[in-house]
Amino acid sequence: MSAIFEIENLRVAYNGDAVLHGVTVSLEQGSIVGIVGESGCGKTTLLRASLGMLGQAGQVCGGSIRFAGKDVSGMTQAEHLSYVSTVASLVSQNPQRAFSPVRTLGSQFEETALLRGGLSKGAARARAASLLGRLGLSDPERVLDSYVFELSGGMAQRAAIGLALMNSPKVVFADEPTSALDVAVQAQVVEELVSANREFGVSLLVVSHNIAVLAHMAQYLYVMKDGEVVEQGPSEQVVARPQHPYTCQLIAAVPKLRGAR
Ligand SMILES: Nc1ncnc2c1ncn2[C@@H]1O[C@H](COP(=O)(O)OP(=O)(O)O)[C@@H](O)[C@H]1O
Ligand SMILES: [Mg+2]
Repeated sequence: MSAIFEIENLRVAYNGDAVLHGVTVSLEQGSIVGIVGESGCGKTTLLRASLGMLGQAGQVCGGSIRFAGKDVSGMTQAEHLSYVSTVASLVSQNPQRAFSPVRTLGSQFEETALLRGGLSKGAARARAASLLGRLGLSDPERVLDSYVFELSGGMAQRAAIGLALMNSPKVVFADEPTSALDVAVQAQVVEELVSANREFGVSLLVVSHNIAVLAHMAQYLYVMKDGEVVEQGPSEQVVARPQHPYTCQLIAAVPKLRGAR
């Protein structure tokens, strides 16, 4: 196994204020890696930097982000568009935000397919329906004809995962994919991400404040505090024998996910 995605000694600042202080994270092809830490520790920043989408205020001040050996921040505009539309994809903290409120989901799945090219409108729609079906939505055609506000939170999150998988990305970054959901739906969404990893072979980098959710799905965990990794290791090891007091705090702070090891 080799690393498909590597963040090395990454430092990021917003308007000069440092937020990430040298973070190193590695994602093996086909694996699921989790990053856990409290709100404000820099998880979303790390994912946005990974997509090369920090925005105006954010700045990479040091280190590197490489996908398949290629530097993400050094990409041309065309390379970057191809990266974010076909190679890397984001499941956002808020599933409703993955979709425009004024257009049906179907048209947005078609538009996403168009970025990649090679699929007719009909073929894109068929692929979207098949993906949504595999993600456990019982009536994909109806979902595609819906607007996002017509869906429950759990349905919207599954649709957002489907949209993220539409162009068969190599890597999916998932930002708190379960935090907006109630407990029963959380477990389902975790299962769906894990099955996306198994069925589609997609590598997953998942961030969450909930160490139980991450330990359940990820093979390897990084514990992040105030913009730094304080502990890392195979998930079972980190949860069973935490080395850092902060990791112990995180474990004590969350109710265990049903069915977790
Ligand atoms: N666009 C921004 N401009 C300025 N500061 C920001 C911006 N986004 C995030 N921050 C700050 O960066 C820090 C890390 O935020 P974030 O990456 O969202 O953490 P997390 O996702 O772990 O909750 C916080 O202190 C936050 O206030
Ligand atoms: Mg966040």
